[in-house]
Amino acid sequence: MKLFSPEVLGAVLFIASTADAISLTIDSADSVKSAAGAVAKGLTSYYTGYRPGDVPGNLPDPYYWWEAGAMFNALIDYWHYTGDDQYNEIIFQALLHQTGEDDDYMPVNQSQSLGNDDQGFWGMAAMSAAERGFKDPPADQPQWLALAQAVFNTQASRWDTTTCGGGLRWQIFTFNNGYNYKNTISNGCFFNVAARLARYTGNNTYSDWAEKTWDWVRSISLSDDTVHFFDGSDDLKNCSEVNHIQWTYNAGIFMLGAAHMYNYTESETWKSRLDGIIKGVSVFLSPDANNVIYEVACEPHNTCDEDQRSFKAYLARWIGSTMQVAPYTQETLMPILQASAAAAAKVCADDGTCGQVWYTGTDDGLRGVGEQMSALEVMQNLLAPSSSPPLTNTTGGTSIGNPNAGADSKDSPIVFSQVTAGDKAGAGFLTTLVLVGILAGAYWMIAY
Ligand SMILES: *[C@@H]1O[C@H](CO)[C@@H](O)[C@H](O)[C@H]1NC(C)=O
Ligand SMILES: *[C@@H]1O[C@H](CO)[C@@H](O)[C@H](O)[C@H]1NC(C)=O
Ligand SMILES: *[C@@H]1O[C@H](CO)[C@@H](O)[C@H](O)[C@H]1NC(C)=O
Ligand SMILES: *[C@@H]1O[C@H](CO)[C@@H](O)[C@H](O)[C@H]1NC(C)=O
Ligand SMILES: *[C@@H]1O[C@H](CO)[C@@H](O)[C@H](O)[C@H]1NC(C)=O
Repeated sequence: MKLFSPEVLGAVLFIASTADAISLTIDSADSVKSAAGAVAKGLTSYYTGYRPGDVPGNLPDPYYWWEAGAMFNALIDYWHYTGDDQYNEIIFQALLHQTGEDDDYMPVNQSQSLGNDDQGFWGMAAMSAAERGFKDPPADQPQWLALAQAVFNTQASRWDTTTCGGGLRWQIFTFNNGYNYKNTISNGCFFNVAARLARYTGNNTYSDWAEKTWDWVRSISLSDDTVHFFDGSDDLKNCSEVNHIQWTYNAGIFMLGAAHMYNYTESETWKSRLDGIIKGVSVFLSPDANNVIYEVACEPHNTCDEDQRSFKAYLARWIGSTMQVAPYTQETLMPILQASAAAAAKVCADDGTCGQVWYTGTDDGLRGVGEQMSALEVMQNLLAPSSSPPLTNTTGGTSIGNPNAGADSKDSPIVFSQVTAGDKAGAGFLTTLVLVGILAGAYWMIAY
C-alpha cells in the first residue's frame, strides 16, 4: 500500500502548502491581470493619503517618501498593462500634490532626507505618466513632461566636477548625511530620465547627458566591463574606492536607460552595452531556482531593509519596458520574468498578500509595501510585450513640456521658521548652527 510513501506524502504536503497560494498562469493574460489585481489591492491597502485629513502622496511610517513615488509609478503601469483604472484618481492626486513649491519634486518638508534618488523616483513616475498617456493635469497645473524635465534640469545643474571628475552626489543638501557619497542609483535616476526624455522629445541635449553619465560611471568603476553596477563611492577619497555591493535596481535602472539610448540612436555601441547589462543580471538569478530573481546582497541573510525589500520591483519594471523599446531582448528577458513571476505567485497568499523571497517556493510570511510592489511588478510586466510601448511626442504623447522647467528651483530651501521642534534632523541641524555660532562668537572674542 503506497498511501504513506514519500511521494504521496510529498504530494499531500505540496497541496497543503500551496492551497493558499494565488493562482497565476503565466501565459494567460486574464490570469496575469487577475493575480496582479489581487496584489495591487494588497499594495494599495497600505496607502491612506487620499483620505480626508491625510497627506496625498505619503505612505505611513516606516516607508520613505521616495517609495511612495515608486509605488505610484507601479500603479501607472498597472493601469497601462491591465486596463484597470480604479487607482487612477489617487495616483493623479498624489503625483500633483507632491510636486513641491517649485514643481520639481523637491517639497520643502522632505529636505531633511531628500537625495537625488528620492527626487528621481518621483521624476520617473512623472515620466511614466507622460509615456503611458496618463490623464494630463489641467492647464494651470504642472504637466508630467515638464515635471520630468524639472527633475532633469535641477539634477544637471548639480553635476559636480569638484571631485571624482563629475557625477551627482547622493544627497542634494550639504547638511544631510550622504552628501559626500556619489552613488550609482542617483546617477542611474538621472541617466534613466535623460535617456527617456531624449526618446520622448527628440532633443539631443538629453542623450548627450545620458552619454556623459554613462561614461562617468564607467570612469570611476561604479560599473565594470561585464556589466555590473556597484553601490557608490566616497568623494572625500575622490572616488578612488568603490563600495561593491550590487542591487537589482541599479542594474535595472541602467538597463532601461541603455534600452532607450539604443532605441534612440540605433547604435551598435548602445546595443552592446544593453546586451552587457542583461548578461550581468545573472548575478541576481538565484542559484537555487532557475531564472528566479533574488536580492543577492540581503535575501540569503534575511537582512533586507524596508527600502531594499522593494528593489526587485524596479528591476522587473525596467525589464518590462526594456522589452518594449528593444524588442529583440524579449527572447532573453521574458524567461526571467516568467520564472520569477511564477515563483512570486507561489509565495503570495490568495488574499493577494505576498512574501519577500521568491526562490524558496515557500511564503516566508514577511509582508510590506516592498513585497507587494515587487510581486505586482514581476506579474504585470509579463504583459509588457503585448502592450503598447512608451509614447513619444510624435507617437501620440500629449504631455506638454517645458525645456526650462526647474530653472527657479532653490537648492537651499530651508526656511527656519518651517523646521518644527518635532523634526529630529532639523533640530540637530539647528543645534549645530547654534554651536557653530557659539564657537564663532568665542573665536571672535579671542581674536579681537
Ligand atoms: C508637506 O508638504 C505638503 C505640500 O507640499 C503638505 O501637503 C503636507 O501636509 C506636508 N507635510 C507632510 C507630513 O507631508
Ligand atoms: C580625482 O578623480 C578624477 C577622476 O578619476 C581625476 O580626474 C582627478 O585627477 C582626481 N583628482 C585628484 C586630486 O586626485
Ligand atoms: C516634439 O518635441 C520637440 C522638442 O521639443 C519639438 O521640436 C517637436 O516639434 C515636437 N514634435 C511634435 C510633433 O510636437
Ligand atoms: C524602438 O521602440 C519601438 C517601440 O516604440 C519599437 O517598435 C522599435 O522596434 C524600437 N527600435 C529598435 C531599434 O529596437
Ligand atoms: C533641448 O533641451 C535643452 C535643455 O533643456 C534646452 O535648453 C533646449 O532649448 C532644448 N531644445 C529644444 C529644441 O527644445
